[in-house]
Amino acid sequence: MNNSAIGLFDSGMGGLSVWQEIRAGLPTESLIFFGDGVRCPYGSRPESEVLQFTVEAVERLIAEGCKLIVIACNTATAVAIDYLREHYPSVPFVGLEPAIKPAALTTKTGVVAVLATERSLEGKLFLHTSAKYADKVQIIKSVGRDFVEIVERGEEDTPAAEAAVRGVVEPIIEAGADKIVLGCTHYPFLRRTIERVIGGREVEIIDSGSAVCRRVAQLLEENDLRADASHSADYRFITLGDENYLKQLQRRAYGCCSKEKA
Ligand code: DGL
Repeated sequence: MNNSAIGLFDSGMGGLSVWQEIRAGLPTESLIFFGDGVRCPYGSRPESEVLQFTVEAVERLIAEGCKLIVIACNTATAVAIDYLREHYPSVPFVGLEPAIKPAALTTKTGVVAVLATERSLEGKLFLHTSAKYADKVQIIKSVGRDFVEIVERGEEDTPAAEAAVRGVVEPIIEAGADKIVLGCTHYPFLRRTIERVIGGREVEIIDSGSAVCRRVAQLLEENDLRADASHSADYRFITLGDENYLKQLQRRAYGCCSKEKA
């Protein structure tokens, strides 16, 4: 048993989609969420920078006493997960990877689209996972251009957001995809907008949230790190941004996402 917190890290607010899954699935676990917020987006930055920022965040979460760390950012996972596992062998890490497997196993058209940042789609993690399924399905790689910025500004329910989503999603559907895998933790906050663009067509959106929560539970169990059944969880948020950004993180975490809903 261990009542220390689980740490989560993202370039900004996207990792809160993972935070929400873990909070719901593991309600006795305390959580510390680190959302950079200043240097976001990471997706088009050079690998060396993403690695450096991720290591800084991990050092901070370790200093806060976190017992397990979730890299709640596909981009940071793609760049840094091997390095982290090698350099911090005593810390259990969970990374984010696009859920290609369930999509590949259930597609009827044989075409699966993966939406992610540039950096994630170029990473060897993605190349390795997609290669495993490449002989069974066609995988379309697509960058969610401006999606991260839209979520950071809380503008997911605006006409401009819908236009940006349409520009990316429409060609994917026209190419025959019936599964859209969200390979960036910001994108689940655009789920409703993506659904609006899909309309009545038979296309399923798949994200990694529940799989990540199951993996966290499994690692806690294996390392005897579960919190007490009676432990009352607390939730903390850390950012490099200002007070206003910190408030936005908290509001989004507890379900107040977009400007329209705020
Ligand atoms: N939430 C991120 C991801 O999952 C980062 C996006 C970004 O900062 O570009 O990839």
